[in-house]
Amino acid sequence: MALTDRDNSDTPPETSGVDYGVRHVAIIMDGNGRWATNKGWPRLAGHRRGAERIKQIVRAAPEMGVQYLTVYAFSTENWKRSTEEVLGLMGIFARYIEKEADELSALGVRMRFIGGRGRLDSKLSRLMSGIEERTAVNTRLNLTVAINYGGRNEIARAAAQLARDYAAGLLTEDQLDEAAFEARLDTAGLPDPDLVIRTSGETRTSNFLAWQAAYSEYEFTETLWPDFTPEQLAEMLARFGRRDRRFGGAK
Ligand code: IPE
Ligand code: IPE
Ligand code: MG
Repeated sequence: MALTDRDNSDTPPETSGVDYGVRHVAIIMDGNGRWATNKGWPRLAGHRRGAERIKQIVRAAPEMGVQYLTVYAFSTENWKRSTEEVLGLMGIFARYIEKEADELSALGVRMRFIGGRGRLDSKLSRLMSGIEERTAVNTRLNLTVAINYGGRNEIARAAAQLARDYAAGLLTEDQLDEAAFEARLDTAGLPDPDLVIRTSGETRTSNFLAWQAAYSEYEFTETLWPDFTPEQLAEMLARFGRRDRRFGGAK
């Protein structure tokens, strides 16, 4: 089906078998707390529903031609939340890895994590490294989950690493360039996101992919993350295809 066929129609977008030409989608999965509060439920119920939703999006994304999916699960600022919510979220991450490991492998998903590992508990950290190793050979979808991630924190850690490598004589002064810096980011080896999506109506980046999203397109929706569907993703991918990306060049 040609993408232009539905520009002026009410036909729902295809969620499988259509390649929308978006290689890397990054999602700020926001609104779990409000989703639960609206129902009179505890915030953690929203986070559990949010984790179910990501499973569905992980299955749908490669059917739409997406090769890289990066999701923001926990920011360096989210430690400000109550101990109950923080521990609850860490438990959800651990269970997701334990329960999904076989399925992700069967689906051909390579799973990676970005963000500082030092502050995470050792069991979670071991599960993260374990699934990274186990799925390293998979190529169908590259799923990157940002946990204890902040763009500024990542940049500061990369800068510190570059300084250490320079001091150790691993590179010369004229090698201190964008490529050398990028190679020290958590996302080294991953392409920049083409499209960044944020749910829940907030129109800010909240410290997500500060370096990598310099030329990304953005899509915002009022939908709270637990209600976000593959159909909405398809709509956004289709809109992306109609945008004119110039990267600073002239038309
Ligand atoms: C996003 O949902 C998930 C995390 C930040 C961990 P929120 O928990 O931020 O939900 P709202 O924004 O309070 O509704
Ligand atoms: C951003 O959402 C982080 C994640 C989705 C994990 P927040 O809910 O933490 O962002 P703010 O506080 O609204 O900026
Ligand atoms: Mg939020």
